[in-house]
Amino acid sequence: MKFFIDTANLDQIREANNLGVLDGVTTNPSLMAKEGIKGVENQRAHYQKICEIVDGDVSAEVIATDYEGMIKEGEELAALNPHIVVKVPCIEAGIKAIKYFTEEGIRTNCTLVFSRGQALLAAKAGATYVSPFVGRLDDISSDGIELVRGIVEMYHYYGYETQVLAASIRSTQHIIQCIEAGADVATCPLAAIKGLLKHPLTDSGLATFLADYKKVNGD
Ligand code: E4P
Repeated sequence: MKFFIDTANLDQIREANNLGVLDGVTTNPSLMAKEGIKGVENQRAHYQKICEIVDGDVSAEVIATDYEGMIKEGEELAALNPHIVVKVPCIEAGIKAIKYFTEEGIRTNCTLVFSRGQALLAAKAGATYVSPFVGRLDDISSDGIELVRGIVEMYHYYGYETQVLAASIRSTQHIIQCIEAGADVATCPLAAIKGLLKHPLTDSGLATFLADYKKVNGD
């Protein structure tokens, strides 16, 4: 399973990248706003910085919600760097735009997906990635992981090549559940990725090994 980090924070992206296991980055307009990145030129410069840090796919989301606007913005974003994947919301104009981008060889991430029906349309339009939002479904007492599992099954059954990118991951446990559900990618906050490292038996086992070493070898 590929790991993406879900942030526009450059320090966090560098930290995750330095772990040596990062495959890409997802951003969205809220994450860019959280970093105080204002104005089109600054946003594009920020995407460039992210692309220089990570040797992997970087999702950059269009702001336009009409077909022509999405095409213009998506083509400009894709031209910034070969790492850029154009992130498009799962609305009518978005599906049409994904179809266009697919024909033009521009890679896409269909975002804000909350149902298998939406995921089916994204795959039929040729999306590179589809992003079911796990945490936001859990927030409304639905089951985000079940949606991931359902999309994975549907894509395998029909042979779609669109990769299932589990998004809105809130915890380390979500990542484990994504593995069980067969997601191709999980995009996660840094804390959830680092949480995978934690196990009390690793800590106590290491402490014992070091103590035993020192008993024989000294400090
Ligand atoms: C997906 O690409 C989104 O950026 C993100 O995962 C949304 O997560 P949230 O629900 O925690 O905002």
